[in-house]
Amino acid sequence: MIKRCTWLDHAGWLPLREALWPGSAADNERDTLSMFNAPHRYLVLTCVDANGQTQGFAEASIREDYVNGTSTSPVAFLEGLFVAPGSRNQGIARQLVAGVEQWARDMSCAELASDALLDNHASHAMHEALGFAETERVVYFLKPLATLKH
Ligand SMILES: CC(C)(COP(=O)(O)OP(=O)(O)OC[C@H]1O[C@@H](n2cnc3c(N)ncnc32)[C@H](O)[C@@H]1OP(=O)(O)O)[C@@H](O)C(=O)NCCC(=O)NCCS
Repeated sequence: MIKRCTWLDHAGWLPLREALWPGSAADNERDTLSMFNAPHRYLVLTCVDANGQTQGFAEASIREDYVNGTSTSPVAFLEGLFVAPGSRNQGIARQLVAGVEQWARDMSCAELASDALLDNHASHAMHEALGFAETERVVYFLKPLATLKH
C-alpha cells in the first residue's frame, strides 16, 4: 500500500533513507521536521506491506528555482526513490512515482523532473520505463574559498 508518510508513522522510512543516502541519519530529524511542516512543498510516500514492513519510499519537492531541462516553473522534483533489495521488480517504484505524479498535479505542476548519477544505469532505465525523457547531463564543480584576512 502506498501512503503519505507523516510525523506519526515515519519510523520505517528512516532506515531506507539511510540505505539510499548513507550518513544522512544525522540530518534526519531536521529534514523530517522541515518536510512534515511544509506539506505543500514536500512529499514523502512509503510503500508498506501487509505486515507493516516499509518496502520503499519516494521523496519529492516543489522547486521554484530553475530546474535543468524544464520549461515551466515551479516544477515537482523527485528527490529520492528507493526500494529495499528484496522488494524490487514488483512495480513498487512505479506505484510510488505514480503517487508523486498525482501530488504534483494536485500542486498545479505541469512537469515532474528528476536526476540520477551518471553511472546509475538501472535508474536511467527505470526513469525511461516510467515515462521520463533524458534532458541534460551535468558535471558539478566546487572550489573551496579561503577566508581572506584583513
Ligand atoms: C531503481 C529502483 C528504485 C527500482 O525500484 P523497483 O521497485 O524495482 O522498480 P519497478 O519494479 O517499479 O520497475 C519500474 C520500471 O523500471 C524498470 N526497472 C526497474 N529496475 C530496473 C533495472 N535494474 N534495470 C532496468 N529496468 C529497471 C522496470 O522494468 C519497470 O518497467 P516495466 O514496468 O516497463 O517493466 C530500485 O532498484 C532501487 O531502489 N535502486 C537503488 C536506489 C536508486 O538507484 N534509486 C534511484 C535513484 S535516482
